[in-house]
Amino acid sequence: MQDRNQDAKSETTIEGAIALDIDPYANEFLANPYAFHASLRDAGPVVYLPKYDVVVLARYEAVRAALDDPATFCSRRGVGLSDFQLEEPWRPPSIILEADAPLHTKTRKVLNEALSRSALAELAPRFDRQAVELVDGLVAKGHIDGIKDLAEAFPLSVFPDAIGVVKEGRQNLLPYGDMAFNAFGPRNDLFERSFANAQTVTAWVVEQCERHNLSHDGIGASVYAAADRGEVTGEEAGLLVRSLLTAGLDTTIFAIGAMLYCLAQHPAQWAKLQAEPRLVRSAFTEVIRYMSPAQTFFRTTNSNAEVSGIQIPEGQKILLCLAAANRDPRQWQDADQFQVDRRAVGHVGFGYGVHVCVGQQLARLEGEAVLKALISQVALLELDGEPRYRMNNTLHGFDRLPMRIS
Ligand code: HEM
Repeated sequence: MQDRNQDAKSETTIEGAIALDIDPYANEFLANPYAFHASLRDAGPVVYLPKYDVVVLARYEAVRAALDDPATFCSRRGVGLSDFQLEEPWRPPSIILEADAPLHTKTRKVLNEALSRSALAELAPRFDRQAVELVDGLVAKGHIDGIKDLAEAFPLSVFPDAIGVVKEGRQNLLPYGDMAFNAFGPRNDLFERSFANAQTVTAWVVEQCERHNLSHDGIGASVYAAADRGEVTGEEAGLLVRSLLTAGLDTTIFAIGAMLYCLAQHPAQWAKLQAEPRLVRSAFTEVIRYMSPAQTFFRTTNSNAEVSGIQIPEGQKILLCLAAANRDPRQWQDADQFQVDRRAVGHVGFGYGVHVCVGQQLARLEGEAVLKALISQVALLELDGEPRYRMNNTLHGFDRLPMRIS
């Protein structure tokens, strides 16, 4: 893979777009992106970053319109900085996330079914029970690291089981997700560090996606059942299970971490939730809007395109700043305020259009199970030390969240 960092074609410009000297992969941006998001949004509807030769869309309307036009803004050339037509991907591309119609239509149907609300219904009581048990244990401790003890512990205790992954070797799942989400960005230090153990980690994950390694009753098995029905090949089923293992764990961990942070930082909102537990669903949705775990995804123009009257040539990498769109004051009233009763429906934290997150029901089941357990078992929830960000080229959230709960 080439390093677009070094190769920046600074002579390229997009006429009418404002060129900005902002680095969305600099540590200060990744740790605290919100002021940078405002600069990107306020500069204009289309911004150009010469350093990476990318166009950035950060306003809600433009981001949503691009997500809604997969024929022009395609995914098969990669949804990261790298253009798969020019650079070799680090692994065989995803046949759902990094695919367009007709391949995407076929694979999406299979995962839609495997992850539908009805297919997941029987998981809900188990998730609720496990969340209560976990939270009870943490209340007994009093002082916790919200990330290790809850945001990671809960998804790790339910997600691999739900997919049907073997117990042995599950420690490879988090490094794999970290690699995959870093690989959507440039080949910087974060990328290199996360790839230190790439071979071992990747080999383990690929092996676990084989049918004989999966349980007979998990989500992975239902993906293979689609192969039995002739909807995809066996090899494609394995790649789809790999997509679930890549996309389904870190995202949810970051979301639950963000939820804990938001509630601890906004005691009035926590009190409102305790008084009105029916707000659980809107509260989790608001967390995804307010502190979007997946901050960005790319598209590539499939043909010459136009955004807000600005011409964009074919083959241009477009950075869609989902997190900036989710706080665009042109769309949201009091966009920078966290409000558990907000109607945040329409946010793009799970994407939008044909590629909208296919696992969002599962993510919601997990997030809402934790939230319900907190509401029923916990009175006090507050920070008890300095949070530490976990740096990643795509995901935004915490590595450490010292908390007091009782
Ligand atoms: C809070 C947690 C999650 C967040 C914030 C999130 C976010 C996203 C976003 C923004 C996209 C759109 C990508 C694009 O348009 O290029 C996406 C797609 C996807 N997500 Fe999630 N996700 C979450 C949880 C999950 C889970 C639990 C799974 C698996 C069980 C999953 C599997 C996928 C897959 C396979 C896609 C590709 C869908 C397609 O291309 O049609 N995600 N996710």
